[in-house]
Amino acid sequence: MNTCVVGLQWGDEGKGKIVDILAEQHDIIVRYSGGANAGHTVVVGDDKFALHILPSGVVRPDTICVIANAVVVDPDTLIKEIDALTQKNITLTGRLFISESAHVVLDYHKTEDQLREESLGKNKIGTTIRGIGPCYADKVGRSHAIRMSDLANLAALQDKLKTIVEYKNKIFTSLYNAEPISADEIFEKCRFYASRLLPFTIDTTEFLHKSIAAGKSILLEGAQGTLLDLDHGTFPYVTSSNSSSLGMSAGSGIPARMVDKFIGVVKAYATRVGAGPFPTEQDNDVGQYIRDRGNEYGTTTGRPRRCGWFDAVAVSYSATIGGIDSVALMHLDTLTDLEEIKICKAYKIEGKVVTFFPANTERLSQAIPIYETLPGWGEDIAEVNDFDDLPIDAQHFVCLVEEIIKRPVTIIGVGPKRSQTIFR
Ligand code: GDP
Ligand code: IMO
Ligand code: MG
Repeated sequence: MNTCVVGLQWGDEGKGKIVDILAEQHDIIVRYSGGANAGHTVVVGDDKFALHILPSGVVRPDTICVIANAVVVDPDTLIKEIDALTQKNITLTGRLFISESAHVVLDYHKTEDQLREESLGKNKIGTTIRGIGPCYADKVGRSHAIRMSDLANLAALQDKLKTIVEYKNKIFTSLYNAEPISADEIFEKCRFYASRLLPFTIDTTEFLHKSIAAGKSILLEGAQGTLLDLDHGTFPYVTSSNSSSLGMSAGSGIPARMVDKFIGVVKAYATRVGAGPFPTEQDNDVGQYIRDRGNEYGTTTGRPRRCGWFDAVAVSYSATIGGIDSVALMHLDTLTDLEEIKICKAYKIEGKVVTFFPANTERLSQAIPIYETLPGWGEDIAEVNDFDDLPIDAQHFVCLVEEIIKRPVTIIGVGPKRSQTIFR
């Protein structure tokens, strides 16, 4: 059984928790897109892991973890994560594999990300400044790209870096009036990255296909969310990769037909970090209530997340383009004590009722949500393990979500811990 887990909103849906839970039933966990812009939280007992690059299955010592070809690897973050886990006696030797085709995020990518965002002023995208856009841009541009495999030939890398840094410095100094960077310093860092990361670096596509042929089960872990997908999200307020499940095949080398189940992860409300249209946003007391109760502050940047009501138009779209079979609905507990709860079931755009999500940012910005309002519940649900034991109004909320998005909700989150999960 091969499974893909993907976010259906604007990221931070609780993918880390779901991947950690499902990792128990899979042999190999694969991150297939994005980079250290992601922040996936896994809570095990009193321990909390915030993973940016390593797959969320890593905290289970029996799993094999793969960082596949379309991930942009930030070596500083990755090495920090490996070391932090080693300190907790979670060792990665022999069970972490990094694709030799994965591209490497270097300091100049982060500098470029920051300088460009600063120069955009009020029009900025609100990126995580992790160098994601510039690294993917170099990948698409080809000539200035560095892959993990380049770390294996340091003499050639040194030459390549000279050319790249010369080019980047022209941009930094003339376009942004910023300090130039040193090719030597970057090369020395690469030498260190090579010594630490090459032992893990292989052809992961070959490894994954041989593993599948040998009967191993694969769990593919998406980063970000479908609405942040470069091609299918709310462009330009998106990330620079195909973060929906549509990016899974290109990102891992595994065709969709080899995946038995696509699980979409959503929260019982909506959040967004960074700029861009957000029709159901509640920039008011309700939004603040959700932010406080759900602890909606970015795992990667610490930024307060924008909060709003569950947008079934957006989620239906994500589920449709993502080929989603079933849904994990997280943070149901966060809605407890709200007097009423809303679900957006359609938009009004230019006087017309719209139910197919317009990813076009201009049209989406004009969307006026049409809500269904439901009564809330006051009972604490954090320890509920059975759907039938949820307050009837919480059950109604879940059932209405299922009805509108036309997908079964098979997992419900009622807290951050593994045990705070209802399976149906
Ligand atoms: P990811 O990026 O999709 O992995 O999500 P994040 O880790 O960035 O954000 C989700 C946050 O919600 C984390 O702090 C999780 O520990 C927490 N979380 C996950 N599921 C639940 C849930 O059902 N209820 C509550 N209260 N917290 C949850
Ligand atoms: P996880 O995997 C939420 C957002 C940024 C910004 C936009 C572009 O934890 O769900 P980037 O740095 O990628 O160029 O920023 O995308 N973003 C995320 N938002 N969760 C994430 O990851 C995100 N990764 C990127 O806030 O709006
Ligand atoms: Mg996150």
